[in-house]
Amino acid sequence: MTTAILDRERIKALFDLRSAANVWTGGDFEADPYPIWAKLREDAPVHEGTLHKLTGYPGEAMFQGLPEPDRAHFTAFSYAALDAAYRDPETFASSGSAIDPTTAGLENSMIYMGGTQHRRYRGLVQPSFVPAKAQWWLINWIQEAVQELINNFVNDGRAELNVDFCAAIPVLTITGSFGIPPEEALDLRAVLQDSAAVIQRLVPIVAARREEPKDDLISILVQATMQDEDGVSHQLSDGEIYAFALLLLHAGSGTTWKQMGITLANLLARPEVLARVREDRALLRPAIEESLRWVPTDPMFSRYVTKDVEFFGTELPKGAVLHLNVASANRDPARWDNPDEFDITRQARASFAFGGGPHICLGMHVARAEIRAGVSALLDRLPNLRLDPDAEAPRFIGMYERGVTEIPVLFG
Ligand code: HEM
Repeated sequence: MTTAILDRERIKALFDLRSAANVWTGGDFEADPYPIWAKLREDAPVHEGTLHKLTGYPGEAMFQGLPEPDRAHFTAFSYAALDAAYRDPETFASSGSAIDPTTAGLENSMIYMGGTQHRRYRGLVQPSFVPAKAQWWLINWIQEAVQELINNFVNDGRAELNVDFCAAIPVLTITGSFGIPPEEALDLRAVLQDSAAVIQRLVPIVAARREEPKDDLISILVQATMQDEDGVSHQLSDGEIYAFALLLLHAGSGTTWKQMGITLANLLARPEVLARVREDRALLRPAIEESLRWVPTDPMFSRYVTKDVEFFGTELPKGAVLHLNVASANRDPARWDNPDEFDITRQARASFAFGGGPHICLGMHVARAEIRAGVSALLDRLPNLRLDPDAEAPRFIGMYERGVTEIPVLFG
């Protein structure tokens, strides 16, 4: 593999949060929302309104559960409220309408399904995403991409890690698992909002794997069988495979690069913590978990209210959207002492960075493996890695997709 073919300017245009490609999720939001969210959480666990309006974002930002102009909107801020919503998917559903999985499209993928339908689809792919499979992902797609990307700048003494490193790893991992060569990886990312164009690229691969399976994810999908509700087993249709592939591209590439950048920025801003992690790589695990808690890249996921319900003191009408502010719940003092402090030694407790309940992130072990492999390889290969004191330090930005501006570093 050669990653030098990944055009740096193109990666920047596609991945910089402030670029045109990302502004629709509120990529131009630069204020620190945490004090506002803390105040809202203290005032009440649930507020009427969308998260971006309650935060004071002036424009329209989009994400799951938005814009939905004909529905009432509420946002939950406390750990207990999110926990209750995640545990009750009957009342708090992932979609406002029924899902037809036979029509290929992101809107028909499992993230929007509920109940038995969701269990059947998720059960089919779950075996490829369990912790024991992390090694399969690492060896086949992650490690090589990580090393090749470092080769591109290892002799320069400086780099910008957000774009030159973090951005490319997840997209190379997922497209690699589809059997797409690295030189075409960015083409796929560039047409991400155009499902038909992504599907067009997948058509020949799915056909080829049906003929002759390989050791990749599409081969697993074409060979998988699923039991229908009436007990008849059938293989996934091409449409079902495309819907799942679209979901993976959407859910797994943008999230992981931003979370890797957040992790690196947190460590580089604290040289003494970075030094400890460099010495004892076992500390990388808690450092990643603490970064996920402290600044989860996606601060909100949403649910559709299926019946009138009184919820933490607020009447939610049937048909409303309840936005779950994961980021605020992750700093709820009812669950964590000194929640605003970044502390990798704190007692490990699960946060909501990967969601909760039946839709908890399918790719969380792959994401963790990517971040671990990426940060660890940087520490192995770049001695005296540090922020460039003459450049602007990384800043956290973004409304519904949060990440860092840039990570300018020196080494050697
Ligand atoms: C740090 C990186 C990541 C974060 C923070 C993240 C976060 C999340 C969250 C919060 C959800 C739940 C959404 C909901 O409740 O509606 C989710 C679902 C999902 N994620 Fe991730 N994700 C990450 C990486 C990945 C990766 C690498 C993949 C795939 C390789 C992936 C695939 C999925 C899928 C398929 C779902 C839907 C699961 C379902 O509906 O049952 N994610 N993710």
